Amino acid sequence: MLLPVTLLLGCWGFAHFLFNHPFCLTICSVIVLMNADILNKGCVESGRDAVIAKFEKRFNCNPDFVSIAPGRVNLIGGHVDYNRGLVLPMAVDRHTFIAGAKGEEAGILTVHSIRENESFVVDLACPMSPAQPNWTNYVRGVVHGFLSRGIELPGLNMLIDSTIPSGSGLSSSASLEVATAGILEAASGVMLKGNEKPKLCQQAEHEFANVPCGIMDQFSVTFAKREHMLLLDCRDESIEQVAFDHEHLALAVINSQVRHELSQSEYAMRRESCESISTTLGLESLRELTWNRLEQSRGQLDELSFLRAEHVVRENERTLEFVHYMKNADWFQAGEMLYQSHASLREKFQVSCAELDELVDAARQVGLTGGVLGARMTGAGFGGCVIMLVEREKASDVVSKIVEDYNRSGATLSRPRASGFVAESAEGAQVIKCAVG
Ligand code: GLA
Repeated sequence: MLLPVTLLLGCWGFAHFLFNHPFCLTICSVIVLMNADILNKGCVESGRDAVIAKFEKRFNCNPDFVSIAPGRVNLIGGHVDYNRGLVLPMAVDRHTFIAGAKGEEAGILTVHSIRENESFVVDLACPMSPAQPNWTNYVRGVVHGFLSRGIELPGLNMLIDSTIPSGSGLSSSASLEVATAGILEAASGVMLKGNEKPKLCQQAEHEFANVPCGIMDQFSVTFAKREHMLLLDCRDESIEQVAFDHEHLALAVINSQVRHELSQSEYAMRRESCESISTTLGLESLRELTWNRLEQSRGQLDELSFLRAEHVVRENERTLEFVHYMKNADWFQAGEMLYQSHASLREKFQVSCAELDELVDAARQVGLTGGVLGARMTGAGFGGCVIMLVEREKASDVVSKIVEDYNRSGATLSRPRASGFVAESAEGAQVIKCAVG
């Protein structure tokens, strides 16, 4: 009873606000500018309308554009993108929304984040460098990428809103970068071609946020297609859109809400150690490593390096096997690949943590009879989310059961409470031109 009443009051409040607000009524239609596919219904539309209203309130004018970029989960292919491997992300219905309009002051960029409740101002004529607070670096880095390519940017006001939980392995940073790039493309009239946009965003993350990430997140946020997983070959950067059977399957996302301190430093260490293994073996990357070559390298690699390399070789194979099983509707085997991937990330690559392992174990216990086909951690690890491949009709029961059990069993432990949702696939980034009429 409480929920419908709250919704009713919420809608009435919003309608009242619209009617009384001087600017809202002028924005009555929107035109999709780039990536002109159908918008995901529901959350995208309400998020877009909300960011428009918040922009108007803050800057006292209508936005010219709204840039929208999704978050993502990675179904399989953990920690192989920076080894030029094979990954299978899917964009999900959690988004970054940025409303933007040309500002009155030429050469000045004013950015406000709703989530952080902070603003910053950049003089586009001055050299750009990383600065505090840290969230601003994702925007600064992308602006720098445009300027360093000689793209002229007008003075601009931007307002950022997001429905992607941050630090949870759902790529809130890549989403912010790609959404920023979308606004800058729209404002400058210069569209980045081919892979240049995700590459520019990855470079921003390397140089401004100091995270040596691979290319998976920025590519999936840019190129995802609704109802598809994106099979990305990180060696030649080719993409295959693989259908996800939405009629029968769903993805449950359980957020442990845990983020262990060492996640960033350990990530960089894993990347470094993979690069040093390839150097030792005289390979360009671990993608070139075969089982034979790995067998022969026993004397050359220490035990830990051997395990890391083993994970990468097998994980690349698993990605292809998972795709094969999904294409053949062999969901049981597909699910097994997820469990195996998690075990390898836990034991060989060592990027999991107790909370993620507990959630994956819980998924196994619910098992096939409860509708769970497989589960694994997603993202960089050391906290964040676990994804579960589930039968669609049992998906919300699975989320409630796993979350309730986990929170009950952790009631006496000082750990955050988990939350979960059934993720729907989403379209890649898009920019909408706001029409005044
Ligand atoms: C983070 C990085 C990605 C990828 C994953 C692990 O999400 O940003 O590039 O390396 O971790 O698969």
